This record gives sequence, C-alpha cells and structure tokens, in this order.
Amino acid sequence: MAHIAAVIMAAGLGKRMRSKKAKVMHPVAGRPMIWYMINVMGQLVDSKVVLVLGHGAEQVHAYVDKQQDLRASIDVVQQPTQLGTGDAVKQAQAVLMPDDEPLATSCLIVNGDTPLLTASTLQCLLMHHQAEQAMVTMLTTNFPDPHGYGRVVRSVAHDVIKIVEDRDATPEELAIHEVNVGTYVVDSQFLFNALNQIEPRNAQGEYYLTDIVSIAVQEEVRVSAVKTQDATECWGINTREHLALAEQAMRGRIRTHWLREGVTMLDPATTMIDDGVQLGQDTVLHPHVTLEGQTTIGEDCVIRAHTRITDSQIGNCVVVEDCCVMEKAVLEDGASVGPFARLRAGTVLQQKAKVGNFVEVKNTVLGEGSKAGHLSYLGDGIIGKHVNVGAGTITCNYDGFRKSQTVIEDGVFIGSGSQLIAPVTIGQGAVVAAGSTITDDVPSDAVSLSRVEQENRKQAAARRRDAQTKASDK
Ligand code: UD1
Ligand code: CA
Repeated sequence: MAHIAAVIMAAGLGKRMRSKKAKVMHPVAGRPMIWYMINVMGQLVDSKVVLVLGHGAEQVHAYVDKQQDLRASIDVVQQPTQLGTGDAVKQAQAVLMPDDEPLATSCLIVNGDTPLLTASTLQCLLMHHQAEQAMVTMLTTNFPDPHGYGRVVRSVAHDVIKIVEDRDATPEELAIHEVNVGTYVVDSQFLFNALNQIEPRNAQGEYYLTDIVSIAVQEEVRVSAVKTQDATECWGINTREHLALAEQAMRGRIRTHWLREGVTMLDPATTMIDDGVQLGQDTVLHPHVTLEGQTTIGEDCVIRAHTRITDSQIGNCVVVEDCCVMEKAVLEDGASVGPFARLRAGTVLQQKAKVGNFVEVKNTVLGEGSKAGHLSYLGDGIIGKHVNVGAGTITCNYDGFRKSQTVIEDGVFIGSGSQLIAPVTIGQGAVVAAGSTITDDVPSDAVSLSRVEQENRKQAAARRRDAQTKASDK
C-alpha cells in the first residue's frame, strides 16, 4: 500500500476575492495558485492527488489538463454544493477508499489557497505524523493578527483540543494567536470515519473539516501539531489584499533564489521574475525589468530598464536595451535589441543579429550578423546573413485578406525608406536603392530601384513664395 495520498480543496468561490474567476486561478508570480498546490503535492505523494473542484471547475480542470510539468497523477472530483471543507474532503472518499479500503495509509490535506507552502514544511509535517504515530497532525503558526483564521485551542497540558473558527470563537478564543493553517496529515481510515460524524452546527452552517480534531480528541486517538516559524508560508489567500501580499512574498523568494545563483539585480524590488523563468550566471537585470512565463535567459546578458520579456528564449551575451517588449521570441548568442523595440511571436534573431530602435518584428528570422537598426516593420520574413535593412524599411505583408512572405537572401542591402510588397524575394547580394517600392523579385547581385524620376523645377519654390507673400499683402 502506498503511504501518502493527497486532497486539495479548491471548490470554493472565494467570495471575498470579489472576482468572476475561481479563486485558485488567480496568479501569484505568473502561475495560478492551484499550480503551486499541485506542484508541491507531486513532490511528496506516492499515491493519488485528488483535486476537489466546484466553482469554476471547468476553467480549473482545463488549466490543470494542460500542465504537463505537474508531476502528480491527479484525480479531479466535483463538490456539487459548497457545504464546507469537511464536505469537500468527503468527495475524495470514492477515489481514496475504493471498496472501503484505504488506497494510502495517510492523507495529506491542503487548502487550495495557500500557494506559499513549501515541500520542506510539508515533509516535516509528514515525518512528525509518522514519528508521533498520530491519527491527525496539523500545521499551525502564530500570526500577530490571527483575524479570519481558525484558532488552535490547547489544554493546560498544551495538547490540541479543538480548532474554533473565527466566527464561532469566544472572546478568549479570539485572543489566541496560534492559527490553523488548513494543512493536515490524517490517517485515511480515521479521516473518512470522522467525516461521516461531522455536523454543520456552527455560525456558517457548514461541515467543518476542522471538527475532525475534536472527534479525534473524543475518541482518544493521538492528535499532534507542528508549529512552523515561517508564518508567511501559512498565508491563506482570501482577499485581493492577501493576494497582493502573497505576490510580493513569492517574488521576493524568486529573486533571492536568482541572486544566490549569480544573477545581478540593480534594483531587486522592481525586478519581476515569474516562477518558471530560468536565468544564467552573470546576467545583469536593470530596474523595472519584467520576465514572464516560460522565459530562459543565458549567461552574461544585460537587460536594461523597463523591458518586458514573455515566453522567450535568449542565449548568452545578449544585450536588450531599455524599454523593449518581447513575446515568444528567440534570440541567439550575441544578439542585440532596442532601445524601444518590439519583438512579437515567431521572431528569431540569429547570432549577433541586431534590431535597433523603433523596430517591430513578427514571425521573421533575421540571419546571423544582420541588422535592422531603425524604424522598421519586418513581418513574415526570412532574412539571411549579413543583410542590412535600412531605416524605415517596411515589409508589406498584408493585403487586407492574407499574409505573404518576404525573403531577403544573404548579403542584401536594403536602402532606407523601402517598401517590400510581399510575396517577394530579394536575391543574394542584391541592392535595393533607398526609397524603392519593390513589387517583383530582385535577381541576385542586381541593383533594383523603383522611384519616379526626379525633376528639379528651377526657381519654382521662389516663385511660389512670392505668390504667397503677394496674396497675404492684399
Ligand atoms: C479554513 C479553515 C480555518 C483555517 C483557514 C486557513 C475550515 C472550516 N476552516 O478557513 O480553520 O484557519 O482555512 O487558511 O476548514 N473549500 C471547498 N469546498 C467548500 C469550502 C471550501 O473546496 O465547501 C475550499 C476552498 O476553495 C479553499 C479551502 O477549501 O481552497 C478553504 O476554504 P476557505 O473558505 O478559504 O476557508 P477559511 O475560511 O479560510
Ligand atoms: Ca482560506
């Protein structure tokens, strides 16, 4: 028999969030809370992880289905009406007690809204449970302001007697600072027996999971508690204020990790790094840099201020100047970008390629050592090596109906202010003269120019000025 199964309670609406979205789908450092809960369980459980869903179940289920990186094998069960945490855990009975026999000896139970909990704390709880041979082991902590949490009531001998919810507590109980974190290890057989005895006799008319503690005390079986010093880990997210605090705490944790790994941050407090982002040694992050999603950044890079990078892969020795926005882009070693550049999905800058200020790139490969320095739009392009794209070059990739491709072969020189009307190919080594509108393919090594012939009308400007002056004298 496996030792540990898990239940994650995530069926609640989270009324206090005042949101249309299920509470556990609210992100902390770039990932929904539920991701952290499942991830941490996956590290500890050798049996099933049961996810109890209700409000927003479809949304949560769809998200969880897409996460291949969550190691645990997850069973989703529904709680049809949110009758309380005791009722929530009961929904896992069919999965965890098939044929009335427990699938695993113990069951690790967590609220879905405690994303800061770490695997090491849970490991400690599990070890304590085993060492004490307890039926119920709960995680507690001291909060300076325990408001809203269940209080841990202890006997004179300091044994846990019960958990009392804020709304049901006496003034004496409200003065207790030790709170229930909502994280428990419970003997599976005892758990489902106890759950069948719980009654909704409390201020909220709910089935409280916390009542298993007083049931254990009544049945004179061992109840044990681990009090953790790190109170931050124990925060339950009920409101947007809590969410904002958790966001800060998680961001801080991530920054500390990367600082220890050898990343420099000039102003850590303004540096936002999502969970899941990877960074290489000796990379320097300037103030107000935001790194999101599945982003990887190599070694010895410099990312300057006010740049946002999302789901992008960046090699070594890449320089991103100030105020760039980048999404789903790939930057090979030695590439440089910005300031004020926008790289959209499908941008690939090969080694040492350079994109300068006010350039937008989408679905385009810019070959090794090629440059687009100023004020350009490059969309749906394949650009070879050592190409010079002059200032203000536009690939006209959209005719109002469909997108077409622009191919620019190795060594091409595109003069400034040119428009390349796609589909079009500029052959290797060719030159497009500045200000040209290119509608047809250009053969290799040709010079292509398409400008209206210049006409200089002698003294015409002076005559125009004189005419204007006379008119305004009247
Ligand atoms: C709960 C505890 C409280 C503890 C606190 C820690 C109970 C009765 N109270 O209170 O002692 O101090 O957590 O954060 O357990 N849920 C369901 N179905 C339901 C009700 C809730 O799945 O019918 C889920 C919620 O989605 C949430 C979790 O259970 O993830 C906790 O519910 P919540 O309403 O936040 O409980 P608290 O009032 O915070
Ligand atoms: Ca809560």
